[in-house]
Parts: sequence; C-alpha cells; structure tokens
Amino acid sequence: MKNRVIIITGGASGLGYATAEELASREANITLVDYNKEALDASKKQLEQKYPGVKLLTVVADVSDQQQVKNYVDETIKTFGRIDGLYNNAGIEGKQAPMVDYDVDVFKKVIDINILGVYYGMRYVIPIMQKQGYGRIVNVSSVGGIRGVINQTAYVASKHAVTGMTKNAAIEYGKDGILTNAIAPGAILTPMVETAFKEVNPDDPKAAEHEYASRNPTRALGKPVDVAKAVAFLISEENGYISGQTIAIDGGESRLYGNA
Ligand SMILES: NC(=O)c1ccc[n+]([C@@H]2O[C@H](COP(=O)([O-])OP(=O)(O)OC[C@H]3O[C@@H](n4cnc5c(N)ncnc54)[C@H](O)[C@@H]3O)[C@@H](O)[C@H]2O)c1
Repeated sequence: MKNRVIIITGGASGLGYATAEELASREANITLVDYNKEALDASKKQLEQKYPGVKLLTVVADVSDQQQVKNYVDETIKTFGRIDGLYNNAGIEGKQAPMVDYDVDVFKKVIDINILGVYYGMRYVIPIMQKQGYGRIVNVSSVGGIRGVINQTAYVASKHAVTGMTKNAAIEYGKDGILTNAIAPGAILTPMVETAFKEVNPDDPKAAEHEYASRNPTRALGKPVDVAKAVAFLISEENGYISGQTIAIDGGESRLYGNA
C-alpha cells in the first residue's frame, strides 16, 4: 500500500489503532482522526516508534461535527494530496438499557456519532475519490447492524443505518471506481467491549467476558488484529470487486442466529 493515503477515524484506540499499525506495516500514509487528543498523541508516538518511516498526520476532530469532518478531509488533502481509503470507524456504544427506559439524549448522541459521523465522512471524501476515479471505503457496522442486541436500541439502530448507507454508497458510486463495504465485528476485545462487560457484570467483568466467549463457535473473542487484517484487504487495491457488503468478523457467531 506504499503511498496510498488512508484516513482512519477513531484511530487512537481499539480497532482504529490496530488498523493503523497494520496499514503502517504495509507502508500506507495515514491520517489518524480522534476526538481524544491525549490518546491521539499517545497513539502517534507509539506508531512512530514502531514504524519509524510512517508518514502520519493526526487531526483532532469530533466526527459528529460536520465542519470538523470537512477539516480532517481538507488537512489530509493539504498534507498528502489524495485520499485512497476511508476507514469510518469512530463510534460509541451508548448506555445499556431496555428500549422504553433508554435515555433519549444518549440515543441522540449515538445517532450523531455513529450515523452522521459516518455519513459526513463519506460526504466529503467521495467527491475527492470521484475525481481520482478510485477509492475504497470501509464503514464500521457491528453484529448489532445485522441483528437485535438486548438493551442496545440506539447502537443497533445506528449500526443498521451504517449497513444501509454502505449499500447506498456502493450502488451510487461504484461507477466512479469507489468500492464501499462495511464490517460487522462480533466481540473483539477493545476498551469499548471491556466497558460493556463491566456494565453487564460490574462485580466480575471477566465472568461476563468468558460467558460471551463460550457462546461463540470458536469459544473465543476476536483480537483487534483480526479486524485490522480484513480491513487492510478491503481498503486496498487488492479488493477489486467486493462492494456493498457487510462482512461479519465474528468467528461465525452470526451463523448461529440465522439469516444474517
Ligand atoms: N470492539 C468490538 O467488539 C466492536 C464490535 C462491533 C463494532 N465495533 C465498532 O468498532 C468501532 C471501534 O470500536 P472500538 O471497540 O475500537 O472502540 P474504542 O472505544 O476502543 O475506540 C473508539 C475510538 O473512537 C473515538 N471516538 C469515539 N467517538 C468519537 C467521535 N465523535 N469523534 C472522533 N473520535 C471518536 C474514541 O476516542 C476512541 O479512540 C466502533 O464503531 C464500534 O461500534 C466494535
């Protein structure tokens, strides 16, 4: 991926950062975007230590703010001159609560970040990819984007929307050389998922983790690098004809519940 330019949102942690390492190992130029400046600075330091030759731009931005999204796109163009891939990864889980008790302000925040954040990213990056006649977009959905998940109404709504927008981007912009896919990770052990296990069982989060893993066909949780390698393929030229798909990365778990 030498000289390919990839934007990663939510790049300071978890699945975003793991993908940054994978892409740095393949010599891509990277824009890392996150709203957590401290974590972003730490990730930049770590990435530059591990991959001394990496060409890296960091931009502090909240993806739910349209102007800040435009800004990370503008900054990337100023620095690298093109955008080959957008990994639309920033997202939050919200709070766990039954549907009728769900805090409406939290619901709106989940929608702003998980839906509008992904939408704004595509809105500003696609015209650039159209001019280039080439682009790869990977949006981050979830198993919650293919089925219901108890107590996570807002998250499930938002991730189904990501799956839907992915289909639309694929059919509207395939003619411009832009392939758009989503990934649907199952439980991958990142800070976000650790927080979720703490909510499920505050006294013994490890027990919640083991319980969840025991229901997976592989009897294990996924690792961020498992996701990173799949994304690295989908966001590269190696992907020549896959578009409009939501690809589960879940050890086969979605096959336990039917027509995903
Ligand atoms: N970890 C999993 O098992 C799993 C499963 C399914 C889907 N996902 C999805 O993968 C994505 C990444 O999750 P993760 O597990 O790596 O989480 P994480 O919490 O470890 O990392 C998310 C990163 O996104 C950043 N972020 C959050 N909101 C932002 C905003 N408004 N603007 C900019 N940056 C923002 C955070 O600061 C953080 O660095 C999310 O969209 C999540 O829904 C994760």
